[in-house]
Amino acid sequence: MAAADVYLTPNYSRFPVEFVRGEGARLWDSEGVEYLDFLCGISVSSVGHCHPAVVAAIHEQAARLIHVGNLYYTEPMTRLAERLARCSLGGKVFFANSGTEAVEAALKCARKARQGGTIVSLHGAFHGRTYGALSATPQESKQAPFAPLVGGFVSVEPTIDALHTTIDEHTAAVIIEPIQGESGVIVLSDELLVAARELCDANGATLIFDEIQTGLGRTGTLWAYERSGVIPDLLCTAKALGGGLPIGALITGERHADTFAPGDHGSTFAGGPVVCAATNAMLDVVLDEVLLERVGELGELLRSRLAGLRHVTQVRGRGLMIAFDLDIDALAVVRRLLLERRLIVNATGPRTVRLLPPLVIGEGDALDALERITAVLDAEP
Ligand SMILES: Cc1ncc(COP(=O)(O)O)c(C=O)c1O
Repeated sequence: MAAADVYLTPNYSRFPVEFVRGEGARLWDSEGVEYLDFLCGISVSSVGHCHPAVVAAIHEQAARLIHVGNLYYTEPMTRLAERLARCSLGGKVFFANSGTEAVEAALKCARKARQGGTIVSLHGAFHGRTYGALSATPQESKQAPFAPLVGGFVSVEPTIDALHTTIDEHTAAVIIEPIQGESGVIVLSDELLVAARELCDANGATLIFDEIQTGLGRTGTLWAYERSGVIPDLLCTAKALGGGLPIGALITGERHADTFAPGDHGSTFAGGPVVCAATNAMLDVVLDEVLLERVGELGELLRSRLAGLRHVTQVRGRGLMIAFDLDIDALAVVRRLLLERRLIVNATGPRTVRLLPPLVIGEGDALDALERITAVLDAEP
């Protein structure tokens, strides 16, 4: 840990724990202490740590072919593109290596479809750290040190009125997280999503849903948009997609399927055989109605029990994407949960704790986590 502080740039605040092994919803640190992981790398290890099918797919593919680049075809990439398109918007797929790159691809695709057009994002949104995604992330603390940002971005309150006054024939795209994860699991209303869809249609603009955190079963449906009935033109996914390996994807609907022409966009590593093999194995696990139903049930159980705990003032979320507000310092609670009760969660704000457990947890894990949270909250004055 001392060496890390010398050799790693200081842009993360790390807790004093070093993990060496993971299995399912459990992690073990360098002292052999076991933890229950209710954050899973911020919604990455949705199928649990080191899922046997993901591990086997990585082993097998790594022994056969690791990299060739995007000038050639590979079977894992093609199969994955087909599966992703078929389980969502039905168009085509551009692979990236992270969430922010999936967002960059969506922004470029929408801009190409309406050149010079404005990109509209919502207050409270988080779309990533690269310049395009950051320009769509209207948070002073994240943007200000890196100004000037990319031109042609505006942000508005997440209200129907604000969308009405902002979206017009100069709008290239509206980008929305159906549930805003980083700002504390703020569930946007179906009415707002419907209004965004109607206004984009009326003005010829592109509707982008950023489902990097909400996607792949996290909210109890494969994609959060399914519940609202609003179908976006472009869908961004990443995080859980690779079963723990880095991959992002832009999935288009029919309208944007051929917007990118050869040379418009690219990425050296994207869609590599190993990460695509891992992702195909991950999809085998989450494309499962029974699993998705259980995500909904366990989410309800967690939310209803959390609402009754000491110091909890509000509980939000859908499926296993949950946050609760406290009348005490959230970071202190998160720290105590980690270091004293060995439960991994995080704070999205000074009063807000977020839970993003693996989707493969059972009721026993949910009750175990609740017990640990109760113990810490009960001990607070
Ligand atoms: C909704 C959303 N979009 C984009 C990103 C950026 O993803 P990445 O960190 O993989 O670049 C995140 C990451 O937290 C996110 O939650």
